[in-house]
Amino acid sequence: MAGESPMANEEFNDGLLDFLARSPTPFHATANLAALLAAAGFAALDEIADWALQPGGRYYVVRNGASIIAFAMGTDPLHRNGIRMLGAHTDSPCLMVRPNPERNRRGYFQLGVEVYGGVLLNPWFDRDLSLAGRVVVRAADGSLAARLVDLRRPVAVIPSLAIHLDRDVNRQRSINAETDIQPLLGQIAGEGQGDLRALLAAEIGGGEVLDYELCLYDTQAPALVGLGGEFIAAARLDNLLSCYAGVQALIGAAGGQTRLVVCSDHEEVGSGSASGAQGPFLESVLTRLIPDAAARTRVLAASLLLSADNAHGIHPNFPAKHDDNHGPLLNRGPVLKVNHGQRYATNSLTAARVRDWARAAGVPLQSFVARNDMGCGSTIGPLTATRLGVPTLDLGVPTFAMHSIRELAGTADAASLFTLARCCFEHQGPLAVR
Ligand code: CO
Repeated sequence: MAGESPMANEEFNDGLLDFLARSPTPFHATANLAALLAAAGFAALDEIADWALQPGGRYYVVRNGASIIAFAMGTDPLHRNGIRMLGAHTDSPCLMVRPNPERNRRGYFQLGVEVYGGVLLNPWFDRDLSLAGRVVVRAADGSLAARLVDLRRPVAVIPSLAIHLDRDVNRQRSINAETDIQPLLGQIAGEGQGDLRALLAAEIGGGEVLDYELCLYDTQAPALVGLGGEFIAAARLDNLLSCYAGVQALIGAAGGQTRLVVCSDHEEVGSGSASGAQGPFLESVLTRLIPDAAARTRVLAASLLLSADNAHGIHPNFPAKHDDNHGPLLNRGPVLKVNHGQRYATNSLTAARVRDWARAAGVPLQSFVARNDMGCGSTIGPLTATRLGVPTLDLGVPTFAMHSIRELAGTADAASLFTLARCCFEHQGPLAVR
């Protein structure tokens, strides 16, 4: 099992880095997770169709191309043993292309962008950016179809302003998200404008591009960095790392328990959408699994949801940002996140269950609670717990530079999260602590 030796970590991280590189948008992440599941024998379900679920069957279902729920039907009695669940999110803060993006300023072809989520804007300057996302095309026969597109090559850049033109930049820099970050894609002769739709149509081999959702992303490949390769540097570690660990654990888990992974879009903008964690996606799948409302209530009361999302490691240059006793270190294990204001859903019953698994599996655990004089993030954990009433816990790997275009995690921690997810999925007997 990954997490038990450096070699296993290496193998796990190779797969993770490859997944991150091929998943520049939630649409690509979802397609890649679906492909992993399909290759492992999970059958695709269509929300529009009738479902004939079989005991022992393994399935996945995608909503809006960017959220996915995968589950394995167990043979254990559900009302007694519940469902072992892990939740994560597929989206990451980024810059998205506007509907009418083309502009020509001084002969430079630029695309207007919209800030998606809590982007750390500074690191987006001077990167070799590409474009990827979902495009809807009209074919010659009049049919409409969604297509994934990923230009892969660097096509855009947001140049910094030279220090000579902004002498105070290192002492005080504020970034205007409307005027300062519009990327350059080239130069145009004369009065014309570039044509993004034509560029996209050429990229996907024809058809009329009716609409799109496109993200800019950094073309620099994920990498292991540090003298001993201690760190994973990549975009979208928040939260594709958890999606990958959860799905791999689901694929690898054995035993008679019913298990489920939900990876939702729109977490970075509050999860309020048809496919987000505040929406009905998970509840609707559970309703189809267990149609009777009273039976479903019993099952959920006996279930557990691990809400997996990254945590803030204590930064050696900024140690005052953490309480001394709650400063998670990279490569020292996943972090149990506590906030009694319910920004995190962890309580002593759910935390104790995970601590017990971690001890048995030899996985180190750390704890995080925010300083009282600082804000606290949140996750899909409290939202899902509030909506479904399922016992929930928030945990995740410690990282630096969350929401930067390049984040940093520890090479030992992702595999540890995978190991804990697998402990959850393979737990024998009832989960509930009373
Ligand atoms: Co996150």
